[in-house]
Amino acid sequence: MKNPLTVKINDHLTYIGVNDRYTHLFEGMWPLPDGVSYNSYLLDGGDEVCLLDCVKIPSIDEFLSNIRAVLGDRDLDYVVVNHMEPDHTSSLPVLVERFPNIKIIGNKKTKEFLNNYYDLTENIIVVKDGEEVKIGNTSLTFYTTPMVHWPESMVAYEKSEGILFSQDAFGGYGTLDGPIFDDEINFDFYKDEIIRYYTNIVGKYSVQVVRALDKLKDLDIKMICPDHGMVWRKNPSVIVDLYAKLSKQETENGVLLVYGSMYGHTEKMAEMIARSMADEGISNIRIRNISEYPLSNLIAEAWRYRGIILGCPTYNVGLFPPMHHLVWDLGKQKMKNHTFGYFSSYSWGGGAEKEFAAFAEKSKWEILETKPNVKGALKEEDIEDCIQLGKEMAAALKEHYPEEYK
Ligand code: FEO
Repeated sequence: MKNPLTVKINDHLTYIGVNDRYTHLFEGMWPLPDGVSYNSYLLDGGDEVCLLDCVKIPSIDEFLSNIRAVLGDRDLDYVVVNHMEPDHTSSLPVLVERFPNIKIIGNKKTKEFLNNYYDLTENIIVVKDGEEVKIGNTSLTFYTTPMVHWPESMVAYEKSEGILFSQDAFGGYGTLDGPIFDDEINFDFYKDEIIRYYTNIVGKYSVQVVRALDKLKDLDIKMICPDHGMVWRKNPSVIVDLYAKLSKQETENGVLLVYGSMYGHTEKMAEMIARSMADEGISNIRIRNISEYPLSNLIAEAWRYRGIILGCPTYNVGLFPPMHHLVWDLGKQKMKNHTFGYFSSYSWGGGAEKEFAAFAEKSKWEILETKPNVKGALKEEDIEDCIQLGKEMAAALKEHYPEEYK
């Protein structure tokens, strides 16, 4: 039966992925307002057929139907497991059951994960970095890309057509709503979701991303087929350049100012600091209330802007809990190229300022000198401190982006 949900990429390759509009939180944490796609590809080498990556188990029926639509009565000879995270492998045991002769291609670490997750120990072909495996009249060469996004992660390269199967790398959130190719899709429609995906999922492994990009730089890549998001058949350099920029952590002129506030005093401090920066000529300022704005988006914005200012009241002798979560995550991100300021408030003993100070010390960021810390409501000297913090951030930005202030 005809299945228009499978999309021919070329004579030997078909897209057979699925969309997920049911999962609200990716990895149980990251909101998916526009859903996500789990991409999978069927490579037909004539005598032999190979599947590249699978999908998340709830979509198994659609996935098997897609496979059958392309395969007909033929058997499936190989499945490549470029990445073991269950959004790409939880359907693998069913696949193995349906195609008992199938051979699983992975590396040494993949083999351990296959055993740990699914008790799969048979019919596994272990490939080394740079090894080529024949698939009928074509072949795939495998390159390990550890920690992009897990230790076993690898990519597959089909050299006759210059196709890179890049697993999580070069992917993004967002379902493929009809169009699947970069030349069918308005990139601006997806760009923010690609950045949010990168910063939420892969960002902390940016050093490894740089390493992977360097390792793959001599391949003649004409097309990129990732495990999430659009297939890059026309301008793969767009996504490679975006990943290169993100992985090098090139920040923009601007400030993310995040505050938490229980009764409005800390919010007033945030507004005053922002107004002070504006008085000094800073335009790109985003104020976010941490109780109202998703952590996932805050992380993406923190990656984007050079300036980060955080402020909150003391709560249980420490940071306001939502701020604690953000600070914890930013600490794990290993972000570079930021100028950081903080402010706090308290009613009796304090404590938030100490935790901000500890975070600042570990961060290796440029730290601004004035750290307003208000007891109760703002007094005259507190207002002066807020204005001063704004001035210091403005001065730092002017120093880092002199061309923009001529
Ligand atoms: Fe799409 Fe790291 O899994």
